[in-house]
Amino acid sequence: MPSINGQKILITGASSGIGAELAKQLGARGCQLALLARRQDLLEELAADVEKRGGKAHIYVCDVADKEAVHSCFTKADDELGGLDIVVLNAGVGKPTPANDNFSSDTFEWIFKINVFGVLYGIEAILPRFRKRGHGVIVPVSSLAAYRGLPGSTAYGGSKAAVTNMMEGMRVELADQNIQVVLVSPGFVKTPMTDKNKFDMPFLIPVEKACRKIIRGIEKRSREVQFPFPLFAILSMAKMIPNFLWDRMTGAAAPKSKSSSKTDSSTPSP
Ligand SMILES: NC(=O)c1ccc[n+]([C@@H]2O[C@H](COP(=O)([O-])OP(=O)(O)OC[C@H]3O[C@@H](n4cnc5c(N)ncnc54)[C@H](OP(=O)(O)O)[C@@H]3O)[C@@H](O)[C@H]2O)c1
Repeated sequence: MPSINGQKILITGASSGIGAELAKQLGARGCQLALLARRQDLLEELAADVEKRGGKAHIYVCDVADKEAVHSCFTKADDELGGLDIVVLNAGVGKPTPANDNFSSDTFEWIFKINVFGVLYGIEAILPRFRKRGHGVIVPVSSLAAYRGLPGSTAYGGSKAAVTNMMEGMRVELADQNIQVVLVSPGFVKTPMTDKNKFDMPFLIPVEKACRKIIRGIEKRSREVQFPFPLFAILSMAKMIPNFLWDRMTGAAAPKSKSSSKTDSSTPSP
């Protein structure tokens, strides 16, 4: 199993949550990191923390929904670090998108631009370089929410399902070029993203534990890193539940579509 110690790793969405914790744990293992996000102040604080732990950190202020910016930051990071080994495409956003009076394709576009196209822009930027070097690891962060449609979270779930499906196909194509895809599918992880949720989150796990699992999965070159196991098992089985039953099970928690309902509610979705 190849150790991750000392590797050159780019992380998008590094300013908070999973991305920030990954950076801290990888810093402690002597990694050289390229940290990308929009909030420069948080990246600067994180870079100082990474260096204290024994790693090296370069920061890049970048909006992953901006194709030009992603290309420019990825190529700059690849040059400055002297050839990246791993890219973690983790930046993501979520927001309830109930099909009520508030329904707007704009919200879907915004979520897909970050969660789906942000990943694709990153792959587009790094792939020629990985191919030229004959190796590389791509780590897209999807979600267990990709496994089955959930009422009220259709933009987020749809964006993650797109990532999961695309990466499943690309994994096979890229393996021939010695480029590995390690798809990450978390359940609920305690981060600023989930701190906003008002509903009970089953099997919520601390971010430190989630990141240990992700790092171990990268080292093992797992095809998919899914956790926590109980939610993964439940949602895997949910794929086989007939539609009529799924509708009944999720229906009770679904946001109401009456025009009087203007709340941005959704069913719990990791
Ligand atoms: N937490 C969970 O339970 C959970 C479960 C399943 C999957 N995930 C996935 O895990 C990933 C990380 O989530 P998290 O929980 O760590 O969320 P978080 O704490 O809200 O962090 C999200 C990160 O994404 C960055 N980001 C958002 N929009 C961006 C943009 N346009 N350009 C660049 N960076 C952007 C944010 O940085 P800036 O705002 O500074 O740009 C931030 O660093 C996401 O893809 C999420 O969907 C999370």
